[in-house]
Formats: sequence, C-alpha cells, structure tokens
Amino acid sequence: MDRGLFITFEGIDGCGKSTQIGLLTACLEDIGKPFLLVREPGGTVIGEKIRSILLDKENNEMSPEAELLLFEAARAQIVAEKIRPAIEAGTTVICDRFYDSTFAYQGVARSLGEDLVVTLNDIATSGLAPDITFLLDLSVEDAYARRKGRGEADDRMELLGLEFQRNVRNGYLKAADSFDRIVVVDAGRTPEEIFADIKKTVEERL
Ligand code: TYD
Repeated sequence: MDRGLFITFEGIDGCGKSTQIGLLTACLEDIGKPFLLVREPGGTVIGEKIRSILLDKENNEMSPEAELLLFEAARAQIVAEKIRPAIEAGTTVICDRFYDSTFAYQGVARSLGEDLVVTLNDIATSGLAPDITFLLDLSVEDAYARRKGRGEADDRMELLGLEFQRNVRNGYLKAADSFDRIVVVDAGRTPEEIFADIKKTVEERL
C-alpha cells in the first residue's frame, strides 16, 4: 500500500493557518480523499495534557529547556500514536504545526540552538519528516492585527510580544532556506489567493 502524504502548516501566531487548513480539508472531503487532521501540541490524550501545561499563563516560571522538552514529548506521542500509523495505512495526514515550530520558536526565538532542536526533532519523530510544509509568511504587525480582530485571549506563547514573534518569523524563514520541503506562501493576500497556491502544490503531489 502507498504511504499517505504528510502535510504540515506553519507560521507565526495569527498567520491564517486555521483558515487554510479548513479550505484544504473541505477540498479533500469533496474529492473523497481520506485524511487525518491533528494539531500540535496536543492531538492525543497525553499530548492535550502537555498542551495545557505549555499554554497555561500561570506557568510563567517554566524554563526554556522544560518548554522545549515538553513540546518534543507531546510530539513523540502524537507521531507514535496517530501520525505514523495513519501514514503507513495510506491516509493523508494534515498537521497544524509540527517540528518547524520548535525550530523557529525554541531553536531560534528562544535561542536554544538550531542543531539541538533538529536532533531532538529527529528523536521525537523517529526520523519521520513531512512531505510538504506550508509556511504561511506574514508580517508580525499584520498577524497581530488579525489576532486582535478575533478577540481571543492570548496564551502563554502569544504573550511574549512582537519582538519574539519577529524572531520566530526569522526562524521560520531560516528553516525554509535549509529544508526544500518547506513552501513559503505569501499570507498577506486573500484566503482564496493563498489557497490557490496550496491547492496546486497538493494536487501535484497527491
Ligand atoms: P495554538 O493555540 O495551537 O496556536 P496556533 O493557533 O497559532 O497554532 O498554540 C500553540 C503555541 O505554541 C503557538 O504560540 C506556537 C507554540 N509552539 C511552540 O512554541 N513550539 C512548538 O514546537 C509548537 C508545536 C508550538
């Protein structure tokens, strides 16, 4: 049996990932292509518990190293429990954030080290890499305006401010320079324009 395609979506907070993931899943439903949609951190019973620790605003004493290892722990669980079995069964898997988030947020923005994060990512995934990663690239100012427009309360990561988000964006662009699987998509356009690019790339690979 052919392996399923593994697609991940990345970008700074407020970049419009959810909208694009919604459009892609609707499109797969239309053509009757089975898929599994998961999110990181979370997506499993254990992972959702880790997620609540990671995003809890009360946990402001968490060390950057503890944060990094918790993201990796949640990842190890979802890869073993959900993502790898689905891909091996031929199902397309769409993941809302994956290990490039750790590269950009913890490796670059938290300055924990890119090589260290790449090594830990490899351990957490046992070497499983996405086939395509869409990086929705947007200025931090536009992303901030979108988040405010949604009126949601900021979580612990979002409270880190615009300078942090700027470093995250640079981290993502650095990842895109290093890894060919990352497709940089200009997220400053209309949802329809952005999705046209995503759809074309996915159709070529399905
Ligand atoms: P979430 O509410 O899922 O954000 P979004 O809707 O923007 O995807 O919160 C996840 C937060 O955790 C987000 O700020 C990004 C951050 N994060 C990391 O710092 N490192 C990681 O490895 C992952 C997966 C997420």
